[in-house]
Amino acid sequence: MNLVSLSEFEREAHKVLPKNALDYYKSGAGDEYSLRLNRTAFEKIRIRPRCLIDVSNRTSECEVFGVKYSAPIGISPTAMQKMAHPEGENAVAKAAKNQEIGYTLSTIATSSIEEVGQSAPDYSKWFQLYIYKDRGVTERLVRRAEENGFTAIVLTVDAPIFGLRRADLKNHFSLPPHLTMANFTGELATGVKGKGGSGINQYVASLFDASLNWQDVEWLLSFTKLPVLVKGILTKEDAELAVEAGVHGIIVSNHGARQIDSVPATVSCYISAIFYNVY
Ligand SMILES: Cc1cc2nc3c(=O)[nH]c(=O)nc-3n(C[C@H](O)[C@H](O)[C@H](O)COP(=O)(O)O)c2cc1C
Repeated sequence: MNLVSLSEFEREAHKVLPKNALDYYKSGAGDEYSLRLNRTAFEKIRIRPRCLIDVSNRTSECEVFGVKYSAPIGISPTAMQKMAHPEGENAVAKAAKNQEIGYTLSTIATSSIEEVGQSAPDYSKWFQLYIYKDRGVTERLVRRAEENGFTAIVLTVDAPIFGLRRADLKNHFSLPPHLTMANFTGELATGVKGKGGSGINQYVASLFDASLNWQDVEWLLSFTKLPVLVKGILTKEDAELAVEAGVHGIIVSNHGARQIDSVPATVSCYISAIFYNVY
């Protein structure tokens, strides 16, 4: 296969993926206004190139938490990648290592922290955390990330409740029976079964802690030795609270427009912050 752009990969995915998986991967919340906005906002950005500057010696390298990357680009955490390919998260982590770019493993991955740790050893990988009602379960995830060579915790703060993605509701989205949420055992591993609705929404509603608040950020900071980033911030007010709470980084994100419809495009929030100092 000779795929050289994201749109070509997307077209191919439409051909090969089962509807249950494809719809899960591609859907935004509600009427998908923000999903469309995420793209159109990018289309409106214009680059003003300057000429006649010596570019024979150039680099796109950057450094985050003391680690060098080949470019200021990273792979965001996305759940359940083995629905798309048997190697799932392991292949993506290997690719990130080969390209020397950032990589974050999702809590609700179909490959475990240990597997992915071994797939891309000696490489700085981050772990994305969802806070379960059972704090013992949550703390254990963080400990396993620490023990398996992950170098930062990305706490997702925009998903105490999952957004309503209509295709998942209609499909009664389920994790295919040969796959599990590989970081867990028992019901936490196999509980994504869409009986009468979206299985992922039911899983999240029964297991994630919807009371998630700034005290949980403090709790996480109190016991992990890893840097903590909060992912899902879209406003100046929350960015300031995050700094006050003592986090080490902020990931501006609208979660691929999968959580709340009608939020601004992520890239617009970056641009407002950088150029106008407003959100
Ligand atoms: C299929 C899919 C699954 C995702 N799973 C997760 C996840 O498990 N945890 C998480 O924090 N974000 C998840 N996200 C959100 C992405 O990490 C990322 O925020 C989004 O794709 C890009 O939007 P942004 O630029 O606003 O961050 C998922 C996104 C998609 C498309």
